[in-house]
Amino acid sequence: MTDTQKTAQLSLNGETYELPMFSPSAGPDVLDIRKLYAQAGVFTYDPGFTSTASCDSTITYIDGGKGELLHRGYPIDQLASKSHHLEVCYLLLYGELPTAAQLEDFETRVTRHTMVHEQMLNFFRGFRRDAHPMATLVGVVGAMSAFYHDSTDINDPWQREVAAVRLIAKLPTIAAMAYKYSIGQPFVYPRNDLDYAANFLHMCFSVPAEEYHVDPILARAMDRIFILHADHEQNASTSTVRLASSSGANPFACIAAGIACLWGPAHGGANQACLEMLKEIGTVDRIPEFIARAKDKNDPFRLMGFGHRVYKNTDPRAKVLKQSADEVLELLGVENNPLLQVAKELEQTALNDEYFIEKKLFPNVDFYSGIILEAMGFPTSMFTPIFALSRTVGWISQWKEMIADPQNKIGRPRQLYLGETARDYVDIENR
Ligand code: SDX
Repeated sequence: MTDTQKTAQLSLNGETYELPMFSPSAGPDVLDIRKLYAQAGVFTYDPGFTSTASCDSTITYIDGGKGELLHRGYPIDQLASKSHHLEVCYLLLYGELPTAAQLEDFETRVTRHTMVHEQMLNFFRGFRRDAHPMATLVGVVGAMSAFYHDSTDINDPWQREVAAVRLIAKLPTIAAMAYKYSIGQPFVYPRNDLDYAANFLHMCFSVPAEEYHVDPILARAMDRIFILHADHEQNASTSTVRLASSSGANPFACIAAGIACLWGPAHGGANQACLEMLKEIGTVDRIPEFIARAKDKNDPFRLMGFGHRVYKNTDPRAKVLKQSADEVLELLGVENNPLLQVAKELEQTALNDEYFIEKKLFPNVDFYSGIILEAMGFPTSMFTPIFALSRTVGWISQWKEMIADPQNKIGRPRQLYLGETARDYVDIENR
């Protein structure tokens, strides 16, 4: 924790309170209100946490005004073009880019943990085939605490490390199994001779009846999607993981909680909702109708894939994904995909519309990802599971940072109570 140099004064009920302020390495100053209730007897009020720093962290920095995203200081566009997912996992987990030897050791450790306990296959068979893969993912990842007891003690650094590697290694396998189960095809075991992204495509799309060759360009596009979704400061699902972890719950249960939160259409579920919206729009001539609905206060409809709590300029990930969408669809010979045309026209229309300009609504990470994933052959129901497997390293890196923090304590917010004050029970005959 940085030491506090500056202070702020709060005048309240005739008293003046001195509040320490932290100066971060980047971003706005932070007012330390930890002693406010004890000193002044008041709470602060911030539903949705629009102005609240819930923790200190050294992992990811976002500048919403500049549209900047740094992982351990490295800009996301450089990582997306020069790095690969497991190297970014190492960076997020340990704080520095690995040497060649460190990377080889880390990749070997992850590769050797990609298989799941064979008993988990039975666990899968309890689900209905038509279950949404996110429902299966939440259940199976939560159940990992019933299969990997030797890495659930959060006070043992070795077990924390093994749990982190197991989650990064097994989420692609479990997500692929959820997909295979939903389409009635046999599970495909991971292969140690394939890299992380190629292995995932292999586990999703190969069948025992024939050889499957992973297209290296698709594997590269898959890996870039993993990188772009890896971590994002204290978003809703990461905050869920941190809050669940603050009670001392085991890492598998906490990551399952993060997956559940990510599923919501306002968060990670937006990639599926966005593609379904583009399909509902269907053709460019229907865009004005949907723009009007998005602006209509009486219509709950929102442009999925647009807007962001932090980015009030472009989401740097959307810029990379837009370029990747062009590359992948051209490679697949579907560059004239009508959905891509609708998406580009919708983006241009919205970016030139006064409502979206005034409210600073730009395409976010979920706007183009679905177009790429659908072109790669994934059903929309697999979009958020892919987001979840990508974000696992972010969740677990933030979890590790929090657990290792000696100041870590259980999260327990207060409230603005507007209910009934004390009153006596009334017997039913007198009601
Ligand atoms: C992710 O936090 C993260 O970092 C998340 C994420 C990550 O990597 O973890 O980046 C991933 O979740 C991206 C966001 C995906 N969600 C969507 O695309 C769903 C559509 N977007 C919105 O629901 C919304 O923009 C949010 C949820 C993303 C942000 O909501 P905020 O910050 O709470 O903003 P708000 O709801 O208060 O909206 C501000 C105004 C409102 O109008 P007024 O009440 O001021 O008149 O903008 C309007 C909103 O009605 N608005 C939209 C809109 N988003 C906001 N109007 C139309 N379409 C939209 N998409």
